This record gives sequence, structure tokens and C-alpha cells, in this order.
Amino acid sequence: MTTSRISGFYNLNLDERRAKIAESSSLLDLSMLDSALTTGLSLENALHMVENVIGLYALPLGIGLNFQINGRDVLVPMVIEEPSVVAGASFMAKLARAGGGFIAESTEPLMIGQLQVLDIDNLYEAKEKVLANKNDLIKYIDAFPSSIKKLGGGARDIEVKIIEDSPIGKFLVVHLIYDVRDAMGANAINTACEQLAPRVEALTGGKVHLKILSNLTDRRVTKSKCLIPAKELAFTAQSGSETREFTGEEVRDGIIAAYAFAAVDPYRATTHNKGIMNGVDAVVIATGNDWRAIEAGAHAYAARSGKYTSLSTWSKDDEGNLVGALEMPMAVGIVGGATKVHPAAQMAIQLMEVKSANELAEIIVSVGLAQNMAALRALATEGIQRGHMSLHARQIAISAGASGDLIEKVASQMVLEKNIRLERANELVKKLESGE
Ligand code: MEV
Repeated sequence: MTTSRISGFYNLNLDERRAKIAESSSLLDLSMLDSALTTGLSLENALHMVENVIGLYALPLGIGLNFQINGRDVLVPMVIEEPSVVAGASFMAKLARAGGGFIAESTEPLMIGQLQVLDIDNLYEAKEKVLANKNDLIKYIDAFPSSIKKLGGGARDIEVKIIEDSPIGKFLVVHLIYDVRDAMGANAINTACEQLAPRVEALTGGKVHLKILSNLTDRRVTKSKCLIPAKELAFTAQSGSETREFTGEEVRDGIIAAYAFAAVDPYRATTHNKGIMNGVDAVVIATGNDWRAIEAGAHAYAARSGKYTSLSTWSKDDEGNLVGALEMPMAVGIVGGATKVHPAAQMAIQLMEVKSANELAEIIVSVGLAQNMAALRALATEGIQRGHMSLHARQIAISAGASGDLIEKVASQMVLEKNIRLERANELVKKLESGE
């Protein structure tokens, strides 16, 4: 059984960390981990992925620890360039464990394909005709050979809407609702839209213009919830030589007040949701999925009421526990695309032991919720700069030539002095190396 609770992970060196992950994972051994992370994507494969390739571009891959999702421990691969995200998510996942971890669920993996139909004489008649032939259209699409169909997916519904007013006047839009199973599904749905177009033209007498998926995948939604006993939130903040005690209730109420700001103000909601996406994108990228599609869908979903708002909610229950929930579209796959080609993405899927795209979606949304809580907790208490500062200080210490234990020593001294500058790091490295 995989365990995601690994104490002292932060203090291990790179080899020890890999060994620990291999030991904690039930599917991956050290050589699998080493080869996926050392080789990464081959230049040979990269050459076939996009155009004008001249090389590869690397990012750090960290492990989100402590996650328990639907009763299962998960080691979460996170690819991100921003400090504090992996640590923040891991710490919040630890607090959430005390309340039973994250409980997540998803809808069926239904994607929407759109056909824009122009040049129709009678839009109302055309709409009725398409709807009257819905079952035939579904059968027609499903008769094309498709691997998704073989796996139990396929066309599920047809919907039609009339656009009454647009810069070019009126037109018809046909939606194809398609179950893509474990794929992200963009190719499947785009192909199905193109296959459907001649039939729609024959029925409506119009001309099908665009045939493309919608990234507002509001039929493919995942929800994650967590509950944190207030006492778990208590902590002592340290700033230089000063300390400040926060009770659990204070932190809980601070998080709820921070959420209230995002709930009503789009300027704050955008930053609040950006914090959620710090966690979400890190796992989406680690698994080779399309993070632009996830970003586009998330923000459109956040504005679905007509006003842009928070994707998450935070409240307290009758026992005074902090309760968080995050619901968002999550069109990710575990087969095909970069997920298949990239060895580290393959490793990421194995590390999380996911057996379906929905299971992956549930992990991603739980990480988004943990990340949101990390940001709100920091903002509602000591501010986010302190956490950022200690990582920043480590980077400055490394730039000044510190290595091994010296990095932490130089960084903590600079944080204590609130003087995080290269000149100071140089002085400290010299001083500590000479044993002064
Ligand atoms: C920084 O990457 C993310 C935060 O700004 C999110 C937030 O404000 O909620 C800290």
C-alpha cells in the first residue's frame, strides 16, 4: 500500500528522496523513477511533437505529500517553477488528513462539441428537425469506428440553440455531447463534430462553419471537499525574533473572511482562483495534460453566473470545523497525447496509481483546494512573503556558493535578520565556511 506520509522528506538529499518515493510507492521502483526523471522527454520524441524544435525545456518536479483522497494515500507529482506551492499543498493536505482527507467525486466524462450552422432560412424549423432526428444522429456518429466507443464511450446527446443576436445576425448552434471515457477527448470530439457536419447540413439546409470542442466542459465537473478541525489550524508565526500565536478559530475565521472577499469581488477572485490553479496546473502539467484547456474552462466556469467569482467555498460547520469545497471543470486524460509520449508523465500517472481519468481529476481538484487553503491561511495570518522569503533566501544562499547544510544556515540567518541580499549571503558564506 502506498503511503503519502513521509516525515522529514524536505531534509533528504535528491537520491534519498527518490529512494523514499520508490519505497513508499507500490507501483514504482527506483530504477523506473530514475529513468523517467533522468531521461525525461527524448529530443527525438520532442521533434515529432511540435514544430521548429531546437531543444528541451526543463522544470522542477516536486512531490505533494500527505494527500489522502477518497480514503487512499496518493503521492502527487507537481511540476511548477514557483516556490512554496508544493510545500503549501503538502502542509494543508496534512491538516486535512485530521478531518478524513479529501472526498472527491466527478460527473461522467462528457465533452461538448459545437457546430456553428450558418445560412439557414428558418432557424426554428431547422432546430426542430435536428432535435427530431437526434437518435439517428447519435447512431450515425457511433457507427464510425472509434477506440473510445469500444471502451464504452460515444455520443450521448444532441442539443440545439438559436443565437438570436450576434455581430453577423442569427445562426444555429448544435451541441454534440460525447462521453470520452479516459481520454482528454479533444481529438475524439473534434473528429465526431466533423463527421456530424454533413448530416446537420442536410437536415437544416444550412452551412456548418465551425466544428470544434468547447473548453467550457461544464458537463465534466469534479468536486472535492475537506474538513479541518479548528484546533489543527492553530500555530505560532515567527517574524525575525518576534512570535505571534494564532488560535485555530482565528485562522478558520480568517480563511472564511478571505473567501468572502473573493466571493464578491472579481479582482480578488482572479487572484484567489490563480492560487487554486497553482496546485491544479502543477499536476496537470506533470501528467502531460493540456493546462491551457483547464485554465480556460476554470475561469469561464467561475463566471458562469454572469459575474466572475471564487471557484471554491469556505465555511464552518456546526462543530466549528473549517469546511472547504472546490468544484470545477476537469477535462484531463490518462491515455493519448503527451501523457503517452512523455516518460515523466507516464511515471506521474503510475505514481498516483490512477485507473481512470476521473480519478486523476479528483486528485487534481483536491490539490487545487489544498493550495487555495495554503494561500488563504498565509494571507489571513502572517502574509505570504515570509514563506516565499525563506525559499528566496535559500536561492540567494546557493547563488552565493553555499552547498549542503550551509544553504539552510545562511538562509535562516538572512531571514532572521530580514536582510536577504546577495552581499549578505556572500559575507555569511565566508564567515560560516571559515568557522568564525
Ligand atoms: C500566488 O501565486 C498565489 C496567491 O496570490 C493566491 C491568493 O492570493 O489567494 C498567494
